[in-house]
Amino acid sequence: MIRGVIMGLILGASLSSAAMAKNIQHGKELFLAHCSACHLASGAGGVHFGSAVSADLRAPGLETTYHNNDKLLLRAILDARDETDEPLDAPMPAWRGKLTQSDAQDIIAYLKTLHS
Ligand code: HEC
Repeated sequence: MIRGVIMGLILGASLSSAAMAKNIQHGKELFLAHCSACHLASGAGGVHFGSAVSADLRAPGLETTYHNNDKLLLRAILDARDETDEPLDAPMPAWRGKLTQSDAQDIIAYLKTLHS
């Protein structure tokens, strides 16, 4: 009985980390297809568009701005609004309608793996 519970726990943990790895991989593909032109493949950003500069999307930068609040990050990606709900500068697109919420969540999972 106890062995069964332990096996179940181990199996559950490895299944969920496999699901997580799949989400991260999907997020990486979406990021490279839709975001890397402006934020660079590394996520480091720093590309100038007139007076706007694309943001550094690697984990430490996002943690500083969004304090690990995935709701605010989702809003930034889907609605192009910053942490205070102000519109982000052009040309950051609002991705709602082009990416689903679950796509954006996968991208966030991938961004969290990026460090400088
Ligand atoms: C056409 C260029 C462009 C594309 C494509 C683009 N971005 Fe951006 N993004 C920007 C710029 C420029 C900013 C900075 C806007 C500002 O400072 O107000 C930005 C800001 C952001 C921010 C806010 C970061 C912060 O520190 O507040 C996030 C999050 C973000 N982008 C995620 C993404 C994701 C995810 C994608 C792909 C789905 C993407 N962007 C695609 C140009 C782009």
